[in-house]
Amino acid sequence: MPLQIIVGTQWGDEGKGRVVDWFARRAGIVARYNGGDNAGHTVTVGRQTFKLHLIPSGAIHPHPQVVLGSGMVINPLTLLSELETLRQAGIDLGPERLRISHAAHLITPAHRALDQAQERSRGKGLIGTTGRGIGPAYTDKTSRHGLRVENLLYPDFTEQVVRHIEEVNRQLERLYDAEPLNTSTVAEEFSQAACQLRPFVAEVSGLLAAALAEGKEVVAEGAQGTLLDLDHGTYPFVTSSTTTAPGALAGLGLGIRPVERVTGVTKAFQTRVGSGPFPTEVFGEAAERLRGTGANPWDEFGTTTGRARRVGWLDGVLLRYAVRLNGLTDLVLTKLDILTGLPVLRLCTAYRADAGPLPDMPWQDLPLGPADLAPFQPVYEELPGWQDDLGTVRRWEDLPSQAAAFIRRIEELAGVPVQLVSVGPERDQIVERKHDL
Ligand code: GDP
Ligand code: IMO
Ligand code: MG
Repeated sequence: MPLQIIVGTQWGDEGKGRVVDWFARRAGIVARYNGGDNAGHTVTVGRQTFKLHLIPSGAIHPHPQVVLGSGMVINPLTLLSELETLRQAGIDLGPERLRISHAAHLITPAHRALDQAQERSRGKGLIGTTGRGIGPAYTDKTSRHGLRVENLLYPDFTEQVVRHIEEVNRQLERLYDAEPLNTSTVAEEFSQAACQLRPFVAEVSGLLAAALAEGKEVVAEGAQGTLLDLDHGTYPFVTSSTTTAPGALAGLGLGIRPVERVTGVTKAFQTRVGSGPFPTEVFGEAAERLRGTGANPWDEFGTTTGRARRVGWLDGVLLRYAVRLNGLTDLVLTKLDILTGLPVLRLCTAYRADAGPLPDMPWQDLPLGPADLAPFQPVYEELPGWQDDLGTVRRWEDLPSQAAAFIRRIEELAGVPVQLVSVGPERDQIVERKHDL
């Protein structure tokens, strides 16, 4: 019963989209399990570049069935426009191919307005959310008055939306001094659009269990990354869902037994959008070198919001943490090509605390998890760089020896093997790691 879970090991944007696309070649089903349209997953196939926000990246292949799980929060308006964009690109996802969990929650225009009002009210302490309504939708879910996808099937759906918008309007006006939404117009437009999704609603947990029992491969695509996990990330600078591998089971309605492989996608350096700690962050010229200027499509500017991403060196302490937390079996290293031309590469191998190690705590392993990284300074190891363009490399033995040594050191720090190395955004720009070399 082969289930492969693919997660980001950092703060998102590790290249999960291109990696899921790679593994989906042989999958029967590709399934998203968390988050919503805060995600932006890029897949490049020849001259076409797909930017996916809700649809799992494996959908670009013609064969896999496509599932949106109960752990997701889905804005029907974004989903419909994404389906239309894909249709125009020749990918038609009808109800026979796309199944949406009845238990996923809906994001409404009111959730978006509330998210943005809450961010404004945070002032300097802002999280830097994507403004897509993610936090408010999950808040409604946990406080048990959310709108689930199955509610679309009820005849009084529009009235439910009206009540929801009235409730949010009260919060907007009283708590945030913000403009309320026009209840009747918004509710009518939203409900009409959302009801187009009725034919897609399904009990996807049973569908997935049956597929796994038949031996079909299921690839579960995580959104965001380990360090943005609600419980285990850099709280409060996190997203509102379980981004880590266990979230795939809860967010798809599966038990533990089918899990065969848990693959962590790791960028060869590190990026972050929004606020929060980032011990290995670099600034100035060094940052621009890693980020790029925006001239290339893969430069570090957000897929969803266009914001410049903060950049820094790969953090081995946080990578080890991600391996432990997700139970990773292997890694895929992305964007190795970006490091070409740098004379010296840095890897953070440990932390030191300004005030010395905390008593009785193995401080290299994060005494209180990553929520409070402020007391720590990274300890770097320096490795020699390489000059060769990696974009055309396809075989492990053709990698420059310095690149191979860099990857081996990452494996040592992580404690799990790197199975694939991505050397460009294109579908085939992948090197399979040979462990005997
Ligand atoms: P995701 O959110 O984890 O799916 O990642 P994003 O799509 O937001 O960001 C990754 C960016 O890097 C996209 O523009 C990808 O096309 C690009 N990309 C992925 N892997 C590589 C790689 O190995 N090299 C280069 N140069 N770009 C890559
Ligand atoms: P993918 O799937 C990078 C970040 C936001 C913000 C925090 C909370 O493309 O890797 P939210 O809107 O979720 O409430 O914002 O999380 N964030 C992401 N950063 N990649 C993402 O998704 C992200 N999704 C959310 O920038 O710091
Ligand atoms: Mg992204």
